Amino acid sequence: MAVDPEKTSPCSRPELFDFHGVHMTHIFTDNWEKVQNFQARPDDVLITTYPKAGTTWVSNILDLLYFGQTERQTSIPIYTRVPFLELISPPLMIGTEDIEQLPTSPRLIKTHLPVQFLPKSFWEQNSRIVYIARNAKDNVVSYFHFDRMNKFEPEAGDWSSFLQRFMEGKMVFGSWYDHVTGWWEKRQTYSNLHYMFYEDLITDTGREIDQLCSFLGMSCSTEEKERVRALTQFDQMKNDKMANYSTIPDMDFTISPFMRKGKVGDWKNHFTVAQNEQFDEDYKKKMKNPKLQFPY
Ligand code: A3P
Repeated sequence: MAVDPEKTSPCSRPELFDFHGVHMTHIFTDNWEKVQNFQARPDDVLITTYPKAGTTWVSNILDLLYFGQTERQTSIPIYTRVPFLELISPPLMIGTEDIEQLPTSPRLIKTHLPVQFLPKSFWEQNSRIVYIARNAKDNVVSYFHFDRMNKFEPEAGDWSSFLQRFMEGKMVFGSWYDHVTGWWEKRQTYSNLHYMFYEDLITDTGREIDQLCSFLGMSCSTEEKERVRALTQFDQMKNDKMANYSTIPDMDFTISPFMRKGKVGDWKNHFTVAQNEQFDEDYKKKMKNPKLQFPY
């Protein structure tokens, strides 16, 4: 596959386009054939989210649970320890190749793919999948600030047009509504999928770590779990160069840091009353599954 270096230049922001019914940018589709033919292993652990739902937090938790606090944690950035399957930004990052080079077992892998795009080998190998969902309002606020600071994302524009685009599903990785619902419904037929919520992680990180350990079939001691909880607190990760993305030059932290607020309810500082009413009205129409409820 030929990669156009012009298109990967961090100077030009990538454009959104419709890709099999989902809005994407070329940095997540240029390696499509290799992504679709990716060979998963039975012990792979896939960390799956709509962007900005807590991927990095859970990646760090799982990395510590499996491999402990070693030199790996203090010298290798989280995006190298947990490669991003569909990302292609040569020469530095080619998700499929980075995964092949992982020395660890199991391999921890990150993806934002909607359920219908996941390479079929994950289903065939019955790999474990952890899905993290975050309430739509905080998710869109976090995404807005991320797109403002990250040159690998399309231009964010102003807040009100960004919010409108989010409601229309015209974001990288498509519609939040379809993403969280598609993965939720997959649980009916695929039992090796642990669906968790960012808000629960905030409320009781210890309990969520317990549940992750049982899902992963790990027997971690109480002290071990407590250590992981403490090491992955927001302030701890915000100050950790290997977890806070400050090593990526294409993210402008003077606009907004990657570890921004880490809170539930920050949407209230962004939505106007009218925007909130319109959002709620539209939300009711799109979110038809009464079992999938988010705390706001
Ligand atoms: P905010 O922008 O609301 O602060 P992702 O890793 O999927 O890109 O998600 C990033 C969001 O998760 C950001 O949300 C970030 O601050 C938050 N986050 C990352 N680590 C966290 C932690 N340890 N505790 C709470 N929130 C965290």
